[in-house]
Amino acid sequence: MQQTFILFKPDCVQRRLMGKVMSRFEDKGLNFVAMKMLQITPELAQQHYAEHVEKSWYPTLEQFITGGPVVAAVLEGLDAIRVVREMLGATSGLQASAGTIRGDFSASRQMNLVHGSDGPEAAAREIALYFTAAELCAHEPTITPWLRAADE
Ligand code: CDP
Ligand code: MG
Repeated sequence: MQQTFILFKPDCVQRRLMGKVMSRFEDKGLNFVAMKMLQITPELAQQHYAEHVEKSWYPTLEQFITGGPVVAAVLEGLDAIRVVREMLGATSGLQASAGTIRGDFSASRQMNLVHGSDGPEAAAREIALYFTAAELCAHEPTITPWLRAADE
């Protein structure tokens, strides 16, 4: 079982797409184990996107990500990190395949609706950046026996 961090970006909140996107993750069988709405500060944006702070486009990314409330969440499931990244699609909504979240709902390289951790180290770092251990509500959904075989 693996946990991954996702962030419904300000465009997703403003465009009222959170419900649709959440449904996709729930329909897939992924389990929400933490969620909160918050306003990202420039300091938090710089920590979250530490690998991009020096990029020429970082200032506009910071302006975007701090420009309205976001919803941070943790999803749990088998291979959750890879599965969520594949559900999101390529970074740019113009490149992302149809059927992916970005491919279906975004026509932008920046306003691509949802962030997802890109590996186990990033997932651990990002979960710790937004949530305390006590805020993770891991639980076994009663429907689990109908989502996959016991030995999967
Ligand atoms: O989110 P993902 O891992 O797919 O992409 P990234 O290359 O790690 O970039 C992080 C975020 O920066 C993207 O999701 C975009 O919102 C934004 N970005 C941007 O504003 N301009 C770019 N040229 C590339 C990315
Ligand atoms: Mg990335």
